[in-house]
Amino acid sequence: MADQWSRWGLDLHLQSQAGRGLRAGIEYALREAVRSGRLPAGTRLPSSRTLAGDLGVARGTVTQALEQLVAEGYLESRPRSGIRVAPQPAAPPPTITPPPQATLPPLRGVDLRSGFPDLAAFPRRAWLAATRHVMQTAPNTALGYRDRAGAAELRHALAEYLGRARGVVTTPDHIVICAGYAHALRLVSQMFGHRGAIAFEDPAEPGYPRLAVHLGHEARRIPVDRDGLLVEALSDEAAAVVTPAHQYPLGVTLSPARRVELVSWARRTGGFIVEDDYDGEFRYDRQPVGALQGMAPDRVVYAGTTSKTIAPGLRLAWLVLPGSLLTPLWEATRWEESCVNVIDQLVLAHLIENGELDRHVRRCRTRYRRRRDLLGQAVTRRLPQARLSGVAAGLHAVLRLPGTAAQERALLDRLAARDIHVEGISSFYHRPEESPLALLIGYATPADHAYGNALSALVEELAIVVA
Ligand SMILES: Cc1ncc(COP(=O)(O)O)c(C=O)c1O
Repeated sequence: MADQWSRWGLDLHLQSQAGRGLRAGIEYALREAVRSGRLPAGTRLPSSRTLAGDLGVARGTVTQALEQLVAEGYLESRPRSGIRVAPQPAAPPPTITPPPQATLPPLRGVDLRSGFPDLAAFPRRAWLAATRHVMQTAPNTALGYRDRAGAAELRHALAEYLGRARGVVTTPDHIVICAGYAHALRLVSQMFGHRGAIAFEDPAEPGYPRLAVHLGHEARRIPVDRDGLLVEALSDEAAAVVTPAHQYPLGVTLSPARRVELVSWARRTGGFIVEDDYDGEFRYDRQPVGALQGMAPDRVVYAGTTSKTIAPGLRLAWLVLPGSLLTPLWEATRWEESCVNVIDQLVLAHLIENGELDRHVRRCRTRYRRRRDLLGQAVTRRLPQARLSGVAAGLHAVLRLPGTAAQERALLDRLAARDIHVEGISSFYHRPEESPLALLIGYATPADHAYGNALSALVEELAIVVA
């Protein structure tokens, strides 16, 4: 039976049922239409003659099928009113699983969770002006299908910006625009996971090793100490994912000796380094530590994002690849579409070229440095038993408290009961029970006007707890 559209009143698409007899096919198609709700209760069916004509089958075949469905309770036949769809027992409501949240949505009260820049500082005026510029100047061809690597304009602007601001050595054709670091990591995991295990720091953002495992790859965890990744614990992994500028979450910087060691590991074993430079623009006390990529552009896959400099909602990030990985990346990810809206890419390119991104980052750096200093002063004054670390860079610091990881849940609950939201560090460890008792303080998260009160609320509550 071919797919058919009946001509009666409302159209009904009866899916062809390969392998079933004509009658069984009609029964099945009507049954499914009733079950799925496409034919609601009370719907009047056409006469068997019309239906047979529409379907191109003998009338007797249709009659038998309809009688069968009446017998099964899907249809009802009433004198002088023809055949209608019978009322069906209510189907259980579909279970809707909400999409998993990578990071939690904004909360009421004191929000000092890590991972956010100050969203109130979004450069709205500059973004609007750049959007206007793009809409006035971009040729129509810019709005068509573009290179999967991303808009050439943005890749050119980034090559210059990353070289200047982060010491990245590259050219536009080595850059791939991604929908956030999470997307970038998915692409590189797809490429490396087929070559061997992928190493992640321990502690690390737990979603990242889980993503590799979800993609069917082996994720290994490598400890981090005060000098960063313990390189000697690496072996034959295909890639090691690191956060050298400001380890997430501990906040330490990969020491010069470890950088050399890590690059030697990559050269010796043929492994690659994935450098997650998520907050590399924010360094407060001295010159930013340049990207590791500058030391070994042939062994490092560099990843950057706008999630800390501008806003995570933009979903705008980039990979800088060694030349030898360009073809493998496209081969491993050939079913991936380009995921970033071209207008946003052109807007960001314009903001980089006209210096607005630099100005915005400088303003934010000044603001976050002041907040970090206030945090340090408050801890010194009110929490002498605590120790603040990871403060040289980034948007969060680690507040180590006396006690053990077993006390973390109760502490977080107590703070949450007072509408103070921070994260504990234990969930970032592969073995949470071995974690110290420490909180991540995302001092960039509140709006500027709210920061002072947020900080006092946190510190005063902790002073009671640790007293
Ligand atoms: C370690 C780390 N890297 C990168 C990012 C940025 O991720 P995305 O660009 O997907 O927002 C985050 C976000 O919180 C992070 O914690």
